[in-house]
Amino acid sequence: MTPSSLALLDDPHSADNLSGSPDIAGLRGPEDLVRFYREAAGTAPLLVVTNREPVVWKGEGCLSLPPGGVSQTIHRLLSRTGGRWIALRDSGGPDGLRVPGDEGDPGYRLDRMEIPPALMEGHYAGFSNGVLWPFFHDEPSRISGSVEDLVAYREVNRRVAARVLESLRESSPSLVWVHDYQMALVGREMRRSGSALPPLAFFWHIPWVETPVSGGIPRWLGEIVTGLLSYDQVGFQTELYRDRFLETVFALFGSRASWDGETLSVAMEGGIRRIHPGVFPISIDPDHFRMMARDPANTLRARLFLSDLGLDEKRAPGGYLISVDRLDYSKGFLERLDMLEALYALDPSRLGRLSLLQVAPSTRLSVDAYRRYAEAAESRAAELNRRYAKGDWRPVVTVSRSLDPSLLAPLYNLSRGCLVTATRDGMNLVAKEFLASQDGGGSPLFVSRHTGTAMTMEGLSLVDPADPALSARMIHEGLILDPRRVEKKNREALAFLREHNVYRWMASNLVRPLLSASSRSGTLARPA
Ligand code: F6P
Repeated sequence: MTPSSLALLDDPHSADNLSGSPDIAGLRGPEDLVRFYREAAGTAPLLVVTNREPVVWKGEGCLSLPPGGVSQTIHRLLSRTGGRWIALRDSGGPDGLRVPGDEGDPGYRLDRMEIPPALMEGHYAGFSNGVLWPFFHDEPSRISGSVEDLVAYREVNRRVAARVLESLRESSPSLVWVHDYQMALVGREMRRSGSALPPLAFFWHIPWVETPVSGGIPRWLGEIVTGLLSYDQVGFQTELYRDRFLETVFALFGSRASWDGETLSVAMEGGIRRIHPGVFPISIDPDHFRMMARDPANTLRARLFLSDLGLDEKRAPGGYLISVDRLDYSKGFLERLDMLEALYALDPSRLGRLSLLQVAPSTRLSVDAYRRYAEAAESRAAELNRRYAKGDWRPVVTVSRSLDPSLLAPLYNLSRGCLVTATRDGMNLVAKEFLASQDGGGSPLFVSRHTGTAMTMEGLSLVDPADPALSARMIHEGLILDPRRVEKKNREALAFLREHNVYRWMASNLVRPLLSASSRSGTLARPA
């Protein structure tokens, strides 16, 4: 970053300039991100807070990386720049781990917080996924949870905040970056301590719903919103979600809140809180997916995998459509199967030829709504298979575990198309992974209009899980479209993704809080 771009901070309304500065727009890979970070933060380490850990402990000296792309990008940055990560423990091993970097890189420290099972149950299954998730995915009938769950959620957030405060006594991070709906109150708990704090940034990964009208705003929602106002910046995936958040703030605070397009100011008991509610659509590393999809060894592995599933060219001559989602009701499994059935009704010649391959690892089975949904989705798939199977061919092939990205990428690439049918989704990275893995190929993506991806990318073929019959027609038309037109669309989408990649996403989240910290302290960070 040049001194002139640092000077942009003098103008408090310069977020667009900041996030659109050439240095950020030009980021393409991990090296660029590390350079950006060094220039913006110098040697001060980043402190990241998440519900889940970025690595899985497999035994002494042996760590593996879970599939999550975003967490891997943050992990790579921290491995290179040093830093600290605080997360709730997912696997065995010691409470504190040194996650090593590659040769010459410092690696980072991972604080793994042990939460007693009953407390964790209330926090994770009870309030996070029994209340917040269904509420913000517009599924009010699936809301469960009790006052005790809210109490557990508060307590876990309080413990995490206490751990962050403890770590601030040991080292001074450039900023604290907290993630997702499971951790909304960490900032509030930190502010309550009265300690001097570095900038606090938060990223809300999921949708924000319309402000409830009938029945008023639940008290817990008021608490979450007030909690979010404790951060200096709250990032959203799309303008729609950011604007809905602002609407909720206005519904709660009325004329005590004002918004100038950059800064939200709210007069609260302790004084005026000023925060930046930003829009930062999350993304992937498209080049990484392209490379994995092109790799001959990966492709061979994918062909063998398909053959094991009965999806080789002989037994499924029309190929397969692919979908990849945790088995979550917000992903629209039932709607997708309805679309598939409607597609067969539109063009029965696809029976015996074109299957749906759904990669559907189970998820959150400690929550009743998830258990019931998994049963419903499985029985609907079984029903289609009973009704339409022909010889060795089945319409629906389900893989109930998550697959490594190096296998997924060629599976996307070899598919006849991809179905993303979420009824609500903060972003949906599967759509982006598919486009990158297609590498300008001729298989179409069909993406639900209720996803952040559909809201933030142009030129995609949209479907609507609320209307499976119409969606089936869109899919039918997409499948018979001249492949050259599909290739053109896919190439354009890939060009967009290469520009709007996960490295740029990270930098645009970090730039404002980092630069405001250096301007506040009167020192501009120097490259390390
Ligand atoms: O943003 C949605 C999210 O909670 C992510 O944080 C997480 O990676 C994903 O869903 C999986 O959820 P869980 O951590 O509950 O398995």
